[in-house]
Amino acid sequence: MQITRKFHFSASHRVYNPALNDEENCRIYGKCSNPNGHGHNYEMDVTVSGEVDPETGFVMDLSEIKLLVEKEIIDKVDHKNLNIDVDFMSGVLPSAENIALKFWEQIEPKINGPGIRLHSIMIRETVNNSVTYMGKQ
Ligand code: NI
Repeated sequence: MQITRKFHFSASHRVYNPALNDEENCRIYGKCSNPNGHGHNYEMDVTVSGEVDPETGFVMDLSEIKLLVEKEIIDKVDHKNLNIDVDFMSGVLPSAENIALKFWEQIEPKINGPGIRLHSIMIRETVNNSVTYMGKQ
């Protein structure tokens, strides 16, 4: 059984590789490499899998996921610059892929319980583009 809680946050970033020049960065990352950055209204799905607890009828209380993700992720990234303001994103190229990876590292150790595990994190950067991370395969 999988249960999912949706989150929203707004953040800015500049996607660029400091080893490349502006022209090369622009070729690879397009508008996302704009030197002064730009913002996105991100959407995130956090999905937990496990068996239904016969006592509660829940896999996990979704409000527990809400509190955990707000504390460990949303409070740290909402209305922030992902290149500069977020300790756990320091030195990380803030592509949607890397955002999903780093978010996973923030919450995965805190979700594992008996019969429960973090199943996936989906990051939607634009209406057309999203990534889903399911841990190391
Ligand atoms: Ni972007």
